[in-house]
Amino acid sequence: MHRGKGMKFVGDSRVLAPSHRKPNIPKDYSEYPGKTEAFWPNFLLKEWMVGAVFLVGFLCLTVAHPAPLERIADPTDTGYIPLPDWYFLFLYQLLKYSYASGPYTVIGAMIIPGLTFGGLLLAPFLDRGPERRPAKRPIATSIMLLALAGVVFLTWQSVANEDWKKVEEQGKIRAQVNIDKTSEGYKTFQSQGCIACHGDNLQGGAAAPTLIGTGLNASQIANIAQHGKGKMPAGVFKGNADQLKALSEFIAGLGKK
Ligand code: HEC
Repeated sequence: MHRGKGMKFVGDSRVLAPSHRKPNIPKDYSEYPGKTEAFWPNFLLKEWMVGAVFLVGFLCLTVAHPAPLERIADPTDTGYIPLPDWYFLFLYQLLKYSYASGPYTVIGAMIIPGLTFGGLLLAPFLDRGPERRPAKRPIATSIMLLALAGVVFLTWQSVANEDWKKVEEQGKIRAQVNIDKTSEGYKTFQSQGCIACHGDNLQGGAAAPTLIGTGLNASQIANIAQHGKGKMPAGVFKGNADQLKALSEFIAGLGKK
């Protein structure tokens, strides 16, 4: 096969009258020796091979690491902070900078991504030189490397600044438990202010972990209620001994395995 002679483009879908038809000769690319190749099958075969390698790679990855599932979304849970998947973390991170957030959200959410993705879309029209080697296209290559560095940096910043333990905690799938809101224990939980941090369904939130299925026994819980633990302040519980007993037995009985 002659070099570059295998590819034909139909530029105009209208059909000319027979008297106007030119002989159907493909464009001559001989002025670019060594820089062209036949579209079929050489070029397509290469594309397909690369595509197949990536497809099989992704398939293996998804089988080896199934996507983690979180609990069912709860629109009433205001403590849940949604986080995009890893491949959008760079855009998410962009929105944290002062000139791309708050009153400038439009810049971070629309203008910067719009310019970059729009530029990518327009690249074939802006960069029309005959060169294909990256080294001979310094502007296109440096813009691409810069963008790549930006994406890598923003993703890394986002990963480094996120509290992943909290993210995992907030999405955890938990056994459904029935909370008896008429019980003495729940009423005490409410009246002693535990609810402010641990939530009205003891589900936890941004301020405190869930109290369902803690694995703690009643006396350990009574101790924490009075003396605190870690980031939980001491002296939250100010009731009497009966209330403490009801409260700690109530929490100890939740989601017990
Ligand atoms: C000011 C917010 C706040 C209040 C109010 C509060 N807690 Fe906590 N609680 C926390 C935090 C934060 C933790 C996590 C402590 C840690 O491990 O660092 C915690 C942990 C606990 C734990 C241990 C959970 C575990 O899995 O280890 C128990 C039990 C508990 N709280 C019970 C109570 C009870 C009972 C009350 C009410 C008397 C209460 N808390 C009120 C913030 C609070």
